[in-house]
Amino acid sequence: MAKVYTVVGALWGDEGKGKFVNYLCNRNNADIAVRFNGGSNAGHCIHTEEFGTVMFRTLPTGSTRPGTTAVLGNGMVIDPEFLLKEIKVVRAINPDFKLLVDKRAHLVLPIHQKADGNQDDERKQSIGTTRSGNGPAYSDKAFRAGVRVQDLYRLNWELDNMLSAVVMRNGGGVEDLRELEKLSRKWREELSDYVGDGSAHVNDAISEGATVVFAGAQGVLLDIDHGDYPFVTSSNCIPAAVGTGAGVDPRRVDDVVGVVKAYSTRIGEGPLPTEIRDEEVAEHIRRQGNEYEIGVHIHRPRRIGWLDAEGLRRSARVCNYDYLAITLLDALNGLERIEIPGVGTMPGWDADISKAKSMDDLPTSMCEYISEVENIAGCRVGLVSTGPHTDQVIDLRSEWR
Ligand code: IMP
Ligand code: MG
Repeated sequence: MAKVYTVVGALWGDEGKGKFVNYLCNRNNADIAVRFNGGSNAGHCIHTEEFGTVMFRTLPTGSTRPGTTAVLGNGMVIDPEFLLKEIKVVRAINPDFKLLVDKRAHLVLPIHQKADGNQDDERKQSIGTTRSGNGPAYSDKAFRAGVRVQDLYRLNWELDNMLSAVVMRNGGGVEDLRELEKLSRKWREELSDYVGDGSAHVNDAISEGATVVFAGAQGVLLDIDHGDYPFVTSSNCIPAAVGTGAGVDPRRVDDVVGVVKAYSTRIGEGPLPTEIRDEEVAEHIRRQGNEYEIGVHIHRPRRIGWLDAEGLRRSARVCNYDYLAITLLDALNGLERIEIPGVGTMPGWDADISKAKSMDDLPTSMCEYISEVENIAGCRVGLVSTGPHTDQVIDLRSEWR
């Protein structure tokens, strides 16, 4: 039985990682769920009978499971205001919630959010960032001017000097600095119970036999090195980033799971080679798949494309997935033909799969489509999502053993 999992988005994010992170945590009684990249630019959703739809930007979705400790890895950039709000939301669901925030993680400050929007507007070709401040916070990190979680616990004058440098670097003024000085004192208090050494905690736990789920954010084609630079996010999103972003050797991971959607979506600018030009078809999928970004500062429809076979091959090469989890097959309902550019056209389906428990309950054309995805990626599909709810999953992995 696998004990340590990494779950990443195989293409441009929004594949439904949140659901599978939560599923794997519940299914395996995970001891720990770890985020290792990005920050509040992510949006991870779960839908449950009991609590309805819950959306996280900072915490891994497994946080809702009693008994699963959340770890925010050193590779993240953390917006404390979002984090503190999410802690409240989780506590209402899971009163015993335990959290460890790596002391080396960087902070996203309000000045980073302002700078994110301004810098993107000033570019000749905008990237269409989420404007959540991630890029500027990672820039400060690379420039070695960033403010880390542990810096909140420095002497006031030391901390204020650091804040002042960050405000200046990001084009802020004295009001920004005053606001930040106040906020930083509040964060120092409110975060103090959670700050620690994430790498030490997770490594020790794995050595003792703990079950751990690493939760990626964004997707492989948004990875700063392996994505379509410059239309990428500012962190590494690939499974190997658990090494840098959580301080855990990727070889300690048993199963690397790529979450792939039955079609492609992209928010922001940059290439979407299989973009569907027929707006009627695109809108049909967008509506059924609820493909709208509900961001920190912006709300926008996602761009829709057919499954990008070339992108998936690239992704599978870089990530060497043990298996895939496929989502949103139901959003393609009602299409006569489904295209996979470069591969061919396949017959569509129109079926209610919301109660399907095995592959036998899926239409033949859907099963053929899933096999084609396996051919393209060169690995098996181990998990099939049959709807938005956490328990709507066909788990094929038991058949392999
Ligand atoms: P940033 O991460 O906000 O700097 O945005 C950089 C690019 O990554 C933009 O195209 C964003 O739309 C995209 N992006 C960032 N986070 C996500 C995500 O969680 N899902 C999908 N796209 C994302
Ligand atoms: Mg998302």
